[in-house]
This record gives sequence, C-alpha cells and structure tokens, in this order.
Amino acid sequence: MKRAQVEEHFRVQVDKYEELMRRIVPEYDLQTALLIDLIPFRKSAPIRVLDLGSGPGTLSELVLERYRRSEVVAFDLTEEMLDAARERCQSFGARFLAVEGDFETDDFGAPAIAMAERHRV
Ligand SMILES: C[S@@+](CC[C@H](N)C(=O)[O-])C[C@H]1O[C@@H](n2cnc3c(N)ncnc32)[C@H](O)[C@@H]1O
Repeated sequence: MKRAQVEEHFRVQVDKYEELMRRIVPEYDLQTALLIDLIPFRKSAPIRVLDLGSGPGTLSELVLERYRRSEVVAFDLTEEMLDAARERCQSFGARFLAVEGDFETDDFGAPAIAMAERHRV
C-alpha cells in the first residue's frame, strides 16, 4: 500500500478508531494494559518512549499516566491521528510531542533525541 493510501485508510478512522479496535482486536483494552505492564522499569523511572504508528495516542497516554517522569514522542503518518493524540495528551505538556512522518522512510530518531536534548539540564 502506498503512503497516501495508508494515510487515507487511517484518516477516515480517527473518530471511531478505538470503537473499531475494540471490535476487531480481541481484548484490545486488556492488550494495551498488558503492554504497559510489561515495560520493565519502575514507575518513578524517567523513561523515554517512541510510540511508532501512535494512532490517536492510546498507548502514549497510558505511558505518560503510569510513568510520571516519562517523555513520549508519538510518530505517525496521519495528521488527523496526531491531532487526536495531541488533544488526548495535552495535559502532559512538554512531556509529549507528536511528530508526523513515515517510519519506513523518515528519521524517527531525530525528534526523540531533540526532545531529550531540550530537557537536559
Ligand atoms: C493500527 S494503528 C496504531 C495502533 C496504535 N498504536 C494503538 O495502540 O492502537 C496504525 C497507525 O499507524 C500509522 N502508520 C501506518 N503506517 C505508518 C508508517 N509507515 N509510518 C508512520 N505511521 C504509520 C497509521 O497512520 C495509524 O495511525
């Protein structure tokens, strides 16, 4: 599938994304909760997370909530998904950054490194 097709496919899903996921992915909420539980760091750890193909920021939000000192970069092809992620994660302020790009061709490491540099004291 070409980039524009992938983008269009997900763009039209934004509003009903989680409803759709709950219908097509068995135990979607349990799976996402389990993913967060499997992060092998204590809750006070200042972890940095790159959420590749973040969609509307479901996992980003769960990480930011659980890990109070975490920083998350959400990277996604679809601007509408990133808008939803920004809205969802706005209360986390500078700990969250949404970046548009294609993880097959674009440098997704650079934004995460830039964010880390900004926060270095
Ligand atoms: C299945 S959803 C993401 C799932 C999400 N992480 C969750 O927890 O529900 C797929 C997302 O990946 C994005 N995506 C697909 N191909 C991509 C690519 N090549 N580069 C960046 N994002 C991509 C889509 O725009 C879409 O938002």
